[in-house]
Parts: sequence; structure tokens; C-alpha cells
Amino acid sequence: MISSPQIPESAPFSSAQRSWLNGFLAGMYSGDGSTSSEPAAPAVPVTIAFGSQTGTAESLSKKAAKLLGGANFDAKVLDMSELSPADLGEIENLLIITSTYGEGEPPDNAAEFHAALMAEDAPNCEGLNFSVLGLGDSSYPDFCQCSKEIDARLEALGASRVSDMVEVDGDPDDLFPTWVEAAQAALGSADAAPVALDLEVEEESGFTKKNPYPAGLLKTVNLNGAGSVKATHHVEISLDGSGIDYEVGDALGVFPENPAVLVDEILEATLIAADEPATVEDGSTVTVREALLYHYDVSILQEAFLVACGRLSKSEELKELLSSSETIKEYCSGRTIVDPILDFGITFPTAEFLVSTLKPLKPRLYSISSSPKAHPGEVHLTVGKVEWESHGRKRLGVCSSYLAEHELERPVKVYMHSNSAFRLPENDAAPVIMIGPGTGIAPFRAYLEEREARGASGKNWLFFGDQHEACDFLYREQLDAWQESGLLTKLDTAFSRDQEEKIYVQNRIIQNAADFFQWLEEGASIYICGDASRMAKDVDSAIHKVIELAGGKSEDEAIAYVSELKKAKRYLRDVY
Ligand SMILES: Cc1cc2nc3c(=O)[nH]c(=O)nc-3n(C[C@H](O)[C@H](O)[C@H](O)COP(=O)(O)OP(=O)(O)OC[C@H]3O[C@@H](n4cnc5c(N)ncnc54)[C@H](O)[C@@H]3O)c2cc1C
Ligand SMILES: Cc1cc2nc3c(=O)[nH]c(=O)nc-3n(C[C@H](O)[C@H](O)[C@H](O)COP(=O)(O)O)c2cc1C
Repeated sequence: MISSPQIPESAPFSSAQRSWLNGFLAGMYSGDGSTSSEPAAPAVPVTIAFGSQTGTAESLSKKAAKLLGGANFDAKVLDMSELSPADLGEIENLLIITSTYGEGEPPDNAAEFHAALMAEDAPNCEGLNFSVLGLGDSSYPDFCQCSKEIDARLEALGASRVSDMVEVDGDPDDLFPTWVEAAQAALGSADAAPVALDLEVEEESGFTKKNPYPAGLLKTVNLNGAGSVKATHHVEISLDGSGIDYEVGDALGVFPENPAVLVDEILEATLIAADEPATVEDGSTVTVREALLYHYDVSILQEAFLVACGRLSKSEELKELLSSSETIKEYCSGRTIVDPILDFGITFPTAEFLVSTLKPLKPRLYSISSSPKAHPGEVHLTVGKVEWESHGRKRLGVCSSYLAEHELERPVKVYMHSNSAFRLPENDAAPVIMIGPGTGIAPFRAYLEEREARGASGKNWLFFGDQHEACDFLYREQLDAWQESGLLTKLDTAFSRDQEEKIYVQNRIIQNAADFFQWLEEGASIYICGDASRMAKDVDSAIHKVIELAGGKSEDEAIAYVSELKKAKRYLRDVY
């Protein structure tokens, strides 16, 4: 018998991968000495179900399936809207990847599964093996809440957790392969030699979030007219020569820079020399000024930063403030790091100490407001400039003001965030209803440009709203022209502050109940974009009301009707 080769220690594999590979080779070289790579056992079935709002969990599920598929698993990816707890009895091995949205809520496509799983009558899940990967963002109070709840509930229903839940804060990075490896090890067939995951296939090429494209800014203009309290910028960015392409419904990730005035104010107050070295995320060293401009978030005031200030200060007032979590929370609300620095005269011993107390500056997503067919080589955004005043200071949203005030000559670092969960219907003849007040109009300008370029015959209905018709009617000329050409079959606007009583898009939906229901019966898809905190909820209630009023349905029947729309991907939201 030929003795099996061993993977050397120096080979570029983790120890787990090396031991699987050694096992695999041992399996191949055992018995008759044949080196056939035929698996010794049947493929292990695994269902990978995703709950995803903006596509991250969905694309990770596909990656997991690809990885496991190459390692003797029969992997099936399932949208969670197609899964019910009753199906779990038929599934042997279940991997769940889900994000969390709203205030600790499940993403739309997971809402029904989540609710049914939490219900008292959820079925017993004994015999089911599972593992959960949670996607979230720890700056939200209910970090990874949806995945936590699903993980705990499956266990309570008798299912076996085969590997621990992994919670991802921001970028999945190494946590994703670690989780897949652990699941593979736990679920792999005892009869088959383990097969190392080919993690190499997952390397993305071209410009990505890790390697953003320094794009040229072509234009940034305020769409609001005189008299408006808002500044909504139409931003045009060149992707020419980048090799980046996109579909309508996608979002663009933008890496912002902090305002130089704010950074200089911080350096002056903390008595740190601008050219002192500071370490950034990838371990490289830059000047502290560059670190604060491009790498660290100086706007969110984290409780940890205030505690660090406490260690550097003799202020009795600060000590008092730090004595209770309530007063800490209260102070942090609406303030940025510059506030405690100025309020308590905090100086830092070194630049390294200062940056060690800060979180990395994260990119922001913007729904794309152009169709690549109408503007080849370009991507357009519709950016609401965030500005407010608190504790006697004017505050600016980092990325929205960066885009609104950016000099055209300087590149903007961008990457494409594909969102396959927010696509136009494939059937060009299908009607679409778009509800997008404020910056929520962004993807619908893109949809309309796309439908025009495709010559799509389907009817288009847009609900738009803002404060005043005279100064806040975004893209009015283009919308008027589309109404005239017939592309925009119906346009309903709601300008909330042009009359005594407030009127919003949800009121217009109810006023148009009969037509709205008729369009749904004709197969229309509903798309909602914009404010998640109030608008999306109010619009959802209005749609239920329309189905009750115009469709003659009971409350429960309306809920079931909407649920069917969601399952058919005819009720889609891009809300933030
Ligand atoms: C999928 C997706 C698509 C998006 N599409 C768009 C789009 O098309 N257009 C668009 O404009 N935005 C869009 N956004 C939002 C965008 O990503 C940013 O969140 C937004 O521009 C604010 O970022 P900023 O850096 O300017 O503000 P930040 O510096 O992040 O500041 C925002 C924070 O400031 C605080 N804040 C804001 N106002 C106040 C106030 N009045 N009082 C007290 N605190 C306040 C809040 O804590 C808020 O979270 C989208 C988001 C997602 C996730
Ligand atoms: C409007 C909004 C609300 C969010 N709420 C939460 C939350 O409550 N808790 C959390 O952990 N993450 C929250 N997140 C972060 C997302 O879960 C995270 O970005 C995730 O990677 C998105 O994955 P998806 O693209 O598959 O939906 C929120 C993100 C957005 C845009």
C-alpha cells in the first residue's frame, strides 16, 4: 500500500484545514491504494436559510453553499420567506444566516418565519441539527437580536445546536469562514474523509469594500429650492474604467472623510501634534491628523470614550457624571467626542492613546438613483444632508455632508453593494407601485430610467412626498416629462406642510384605495423606500387598510394577502 502524503506545517492552511486534508489524503491512499477522489460516502444534505434585507446574508448563504458543495455536502439555499417551522421536520441539517433590522427586528423576508417560530404552537424540532450566523451592527442597542432569538428558540424547541452561534459586527471577514468550518466539522459525515473547504474560491477580484475604487465626483447639486429647510443633493460619480457594474436596486458604499475643521479642533484641544504617528486598522502608521480624517469615527460619542476621558481628568463634574450609567447615556446622547474634550479640558498623553479609544470610520450605503442603461459609466445618488443642532453646537452627518460639500477634483472611495432583494420584476409587462418620499425616491428614479430604457410596457405608479411642493419636489422636471411621455402612468404627491393638516404618502394611498387594490389584482409589485422609523410602518398599515377597504377583506385576510405578496417578492422594501 502506498503511504499517504502529509500536508507540511508550512503550507498555507489553518490547522483544522491541514488535519482535514491529511484525513482526506489518508482516505484516498487507504484500502486498494487507489487515489480516486470519489467521496467514500453520500453527500450530507444541508439547508442554508437566509434572512436578509440588503443582500449580505443572501450572498453569504450562496458562498456557504458553494464552499460546502465542494466538500461533499448537498447544500440548498432557501429564502426564509419560503420556510415555515412546519417544514423543519423534513430538514436534517439547517444553517441559518440572518441579519437584524429596525429596532432588533427580523429582516422582512424572515419576519413570518420568526413570528411562527416564536409562537406558542411552534412544532417540536427534535432531530434537527442547526447552527446560526448572525449579522448585525453593535452600534444598535439590539445587536444581532433576530439571530439570538432564532438560535435560542430552536434549542428550546428541542433542536441540537451543532456549533455555536457566531455574531458578526459589521464585516463578516474571518468570522464567516470560521463559522462555516465549524458547521462543516460538526455536520460532516462520519463515513467520509473530511474535505478541506476551498476558501480560495471566495476571494473577490476588482474593486470591493476592502479595496474601494477612488471614483471621480462629477457633480453634487442641491435639488431643494430657496425656502426649503432641507438640502438633498443629487450626486453624480464616474465609474468609467473601474470595471464596476450594477443593476437598479443596488446601493453604493461610500467611505467618508471627517471635516478637517473638526479634526483640527480636536487636535488643538487635546494638545496632540498633527504629525504625531498613529496606527490605523490595517496596522499601518499614518499621521494622527490623517488617522482622524480618514480612519476613525470622531462623531459618535461612545460611552467607552467618556470613561477613557474620566481616567485622564481630575474634573469632579466628570467623575459625578460617570457615577451612573443613566447620566453617562444622557450625556452621550446628541454629543460627539469633541464635547467632553472641550467640556472637561481633556488632553491625551499620546496620539496612539487617543485613537485607541475610537471606533473605525464606517462606509455609508446610498440607494442608487440612476440606471446604468441611461447613464453608462456613471452612478447617481440622492443624498439628504444630515444637519442638526444640539447642546449649542451645529452638527453634521459625516458622509452626507462629505458628499454635499465635496470638491470635484478629489476622488471618493466607493464600492458596489449588490441588493438582489430589491429588483424590478423580470416581467417588463408587470405593473409597479413605487412609494418613495424624500430621499426614498432614489431607487425609483433609477427604476423609471431603467423601464424607459428597456421599453418596458408595464404601468408605473409613483407616490412621492416631502414638505413643500415649491421647493422640495425632487426631480420634478424629469417626473413631469415621464408623465407626459406616458412612462409614469400615475404620480401622487403628498406635500405635508402646504396646508393646515399634514398629508403624507400613506394618506394618498388610502385616498386611492380602489385603484391601488385594482393594480395589485393585476399583479403589481409594491416597492417602498426611505424612512424606516415611521414612514415604512405607516405605509404598511395603509396598504393593509386598502386591502380591507377596496378588497372587502377582513383584517386577518388582509394580513394573509400581504403575506402572499411578500412570498411572491411583490412587496419589497429598501428602508433605513
Ligand atoms: C440600504 C441603505 C440605503 C440608503 N440610501 C440612502 C439614500 O438614498 N439617501 C440618503 O440620503 N441616505 C440613504 N441611506 C442612509 C445613509 O446610509 C446614511 O445613514 C445617511 O446619509 C446619514 O449618514 P451621515 O454619515 O451623513 O450621518 P452620521 O454621521 O452617520 O449621523 C447620523 C446620526 O446622527 C444622529 N442624528 C441625526 N439627526 C439628528 C438629530 N436631529 N438629532 C440628534 N441626532 C441626530 C443620529 O444618531 C444618526 O444616526 C441609506 C442607508 C441604507 C442602509
Ligand atoms: C435601518 C437599519 C437598522 C438596523 N438595525 C439593526 C439592529 O437593530 N441590530 C443589529 O444588530 N443590526 C442592525 N442593523 C445592521 C444590519 O443587520 C447589518 O448591516 C447586516 O449586515 C445587514 O445584512 P443584510 O444585508 O443581509 O440585511 C441595521 C441596519 C440598518 C440599515
